[in-house]
Amino acid sequence: MLIVIPDVLTADELDEVRRLIQAADRVDGRVTAGELAAQAKHNLQLPQDAPAAREAGEIILKALGRNALFHSAALPFRVLPPMFNRYDVGMKFDAHVDGAVRAVPGSGIRMRADVSSTLFLSDTQDYDGGELVIEHNYGTSAIKLPAGSLVVYPAGSLHRVNEITRGSRWGAFFWTQSMLKDDGLRTLLYDLDMAIIEVRQQLGHDTHGTLALTSVYHNLLRRGAEL
Ligand code: NI
Repeated sequence: MLIVIPDVLTADELDEVRRLIQAADRVDGRVTAGELAAQAKHNLQLPQDAPAAREAGEIILKALGRNALFHSAALPFRVLPPMFNRYDVGMKFDAHVDGAVRAVPGSGIRMRADVSSTLFLSDTQDYDGGELVIEHNYGTSAIKLPAGSLVVYPAGSLHRVNEITRGSRWGAFFWTQSMLKDDGLRTLLYDLDMAIIEVRQQLGHDTHGTLALTSVYHNLLRRGAEL
């Protein structure tokens, strides 16, 4: 599933993240790409262990922690610390699929990358091109979001970033190991969750029916959750 989550960062958080990453040194983005992705990747990236990247990453993780929509969409078990990249004019990331397993830096832990996320950090009027193009069951989506907004999509989807033709595009990207590795089941639970919320809001209170549906939600999650 592909879900857009608007305004993940507050205006103050966005300012602070931008201030941190714009002041930091950047390296060639191929350092964190696997062998195949490295051939497709042409961008600049903050080193993962740069203090600015860690600090900005903390702000994003905190914002994700309070975001009910992200929780419902990704059902996160582990979230890899966000990384930061910049595409200048002529830079792009050709079609690729993200690796299935990632190492969590400095922890000795490896995690399964179930869900990919991109947080847009530049204002859309500041650059041309740079759409994140994701292939899925129903076709292709070209995603370009206001600064501070996030797109969440299955890590197994083929995707690319179109070449920048004007300006620069900053973004944060990270992977989530979900409690549910199956994207189809995760999507069903997300749909169920959204439907329960809508019905409860319309009624203004819980009924036996909404409670029963909530129970179904949790019992399905209980069946599939791997921690
Ligand atoms: Ni990718």
